[in-house]
Amino acid sequence: MIRKAVFPAAGFGTRFLPATKASPKEMLPLVDMPLIQHGVEEAKAAGIRDMIIVTGRGKNAIEDHFDVSFELEALLEKKGNGDLLQQVRSVTDGADFFYVRQNLPLGLGHAVLRSVEIVGEEPFAVVLSDDVIDAPVPVLKQMIAASERHSAGVVLAIQKVPKDAVSKYGIIKGKKIGDRAYEVSDMVEKPRPEKAPSDLAIIGRYILPPSVFPALLATRPGAGGEIQLTDAIRSLIGKERVIGYEFEGVRYDAGTKLGFQMANIAFALKDPEIGPGLQAFLRKERFV
Ligand code: UTP
Repeated sequence: MIRKAVFPAAGFGTRFLPATKASPKEMLPLVDMPLIQHGVEEAKAAGIRDMIIVTGRGKNAIEDHFDVSFELEALLEKKGNGDLLQQVRSVTDGADFFYVRQNLPLGLGHAVLRSVEIVGEEPFAVVLSDDVIDAPVPVLKQMIAASERHSAGVVLAIQKVPKDAVSKYGIIKGKKIGDRAYEVSDMVEKPRPEKAPSDLAIIGRYILPPSVFPALLATRPGAGGEIQLTDAIRSLIGKERVIGYEFEGVRYDAGTKLGFQMANIAFALKDPEIGPGLQAFLRKERFV
């Protein structure tokens, strides 16, 4: 059973500067919900209760967001705005939040390692909230089911990407073992297209065993002087069953400006309140 999810959120978000100079990237909104809340909602829907957020300097807004705001609640109550009150309360309902600091962004692996004391000796999930996935069944739920079905200690969310995009991702080498599952025998971080073992890219959702922590401790800094999560997971192959799971759903790379705008348009068009208006605008101005 997976009870805990780690949300690395200590990066500088340089691709969104100047917007991220004083505000966290993870708080950028998709329509009206911050990216990181989308991730938290996905984890809740997969039965996870403990949300462990790895933060750093300038990330206080994340802690304030996942906290009760008595003044705001009192104001909404006084105004009789029950719908908004309900929405504000649901941000903190059904989950417990824990914070740990990563003083310097020394890589995703380093950020995950910071959570070791809170996670302890149990399997856990990792969610990169800038990978937004619109899915019929929450992706973490799909992955937890796959880990049980295949008795896998490690489950990596994977997605087919165009050949010329492989150098942006960790790419797996694997053999298909089920409908959407691949047994992973190797993985390469950001390979050149001619060196890539497949077109199956690792996306920002992971189910990991506690043995990943000693593996991270033993991992030396790799590309860019950062401690890479993929290097630590790679060292687990052979000791743990590692599978890649081709999830069902549409993924947006909201860590890039283009992906973020695409996610916003997709979510806004589906929003009952603003969708019809946005569609009419796009048509009228001949954007579509
Ligand atoms: P990114 O690679 O998107 O880095 O990290 P970033 O700093 O957020 O953004 P850019 O590249 O400068 O635009 C993916 C996720 O991992 C977290 C980030 O906060 C983001 O949620 N992360 C990354 C950490 O928590 N610590 C790190 O050292 C690196």
